[in-house]
Amino acid sequence: MTALDVRSGVPFLDLRRVTDEVAPDVRAGWNALLESGAFIGGEVVAGFESDLAAFCGTSYAVGVANGTDALHLTLRGLGIGPGDSVIVPANTFVATVEAVVLAGATPRFADVDPETLLITADSIAAAMLPSAKAVIAVHLYGQMPDMDAISQYAEARGLLLIEDAAQAQGATFGTRRAGAYGAAGCFSFYPGKNLGAFGDAGAVVTSDPALVDRLLALRDHGRAVGTHHDHVLVGTNSRLDGVQAVVLSAKLRHLEDWNRARRDLMGLYRELLDPARAAPVAEQAGGRGVHHLAVVRVADRERVRHQLDADGIATGIHYPVPCHLMQPYRRYADGALPAAERAADEVLSLPMYPHLAADDVIRVAETLNQVAGSRHP
Ligand SMILES: Cc1ncc(COP(=O)(O)O)c(C=O)c1O
Repeated sequence: MTALDVRSGVPFLDLRRVTDEVAPDVRAGWNALLESGAFIGGEVVAGFESDLAAFCGTSYAVGVANGTDALHLTLRGLGIGPGDSVIVPANTFVATVEAVVLAGATPRFADVDPETLLITADSIAAAMLPSAKAVIAVHLYGQMPDMDAISQYAEARGLLLIEDAAQAQGATFGTRRAGAYGAAGCFSFYPGKNLGAFGDAGAVVTSDPALVDRLLALRDHGRAVGTHHDHVLVGTNSRLDGVQAVVLSAKLRHLEDWNRARRDLMGLYRELLDPARAAPVAEQAGGRGVHHLAVVRVADRERVRHQLDADGIATGIHYPVPCHLMQPYRRYADGALPAAERAADEVLSLPMYPHLAADDVIRVAETLNQVAGSRHP
């Protein structure tokens, strides 16, 4: 390669332009915050909470410190704890499972659909136990699973349905948005998420006023709502601060546009990739994903990844080890989960962010079609 051939790389994630688009609003909001001095809670946080609830189609939103707390406090708020099992997909970010254990309950692992890699009503049924009190449906990579089938099953078996929507702000299934299907929807606003803060943040959306009261207490040292010294629960400190709420309110106004851009980019990947070599994770019928991650399946992943890297293309893996095989959680496993285990060996996440150039998608797809071998030799 001569100096003239040198091309700049394609980063896995680049949020510079997302940040630039909201910078004027964020600066104005932060200036107002400096004047008001309401750094935690206050009007800015309440404003974001009501905007988020309206966006999701729920009656309420409660801001918390991060997505893990959103899940953990929701479980506790719904009264789930020691002696209860919670069904979770094995193919998810570890926090889904971590939250169950933090709440004192026992995770019960379910396999995922071999094509969409999402939990299904059938896989929940296969994992069902008499002690199961809830199921956490994870909207992995930005896609909601078949929420009609899952909510029907959950209702019939008396399971509470909780949505882990950390990767799916704005995704829909049928006519409802992520967060509006279950007893509660839990969001992470980690900076790289579709709706990301400039630090850690999270929220729970729900239409259950009793859960809201419990969450408001749990996030603030167990204080009964409207009191200062009346600590009625063992809570924690998981408050959302105004500094992040300003960012989140500004970004929420752009989320639909950014999600549309992600959908277009994913469409281009699907059009260009050779599925015999690099197969995009299947779309869930009935849903409209927001493509937090662009995940394909390849054979000989480490070699493929290395060759992409040598060509300046950065990739990720979500996730290389399914949760039931992780050291702290193996003790809760009960046999093999073949679809999740196979996925963990094959998945490769390609560059994906709203301002990714179409030319870069073309470059990634063409390179991948060349370097990936046949998946079914
Ligand atoms: C599916 C899923 N659940 C939960 C979380 C936890 O969120 P946080 O990192 O904000 O605690 C994340 C994000 O990292 C996630 O991707």
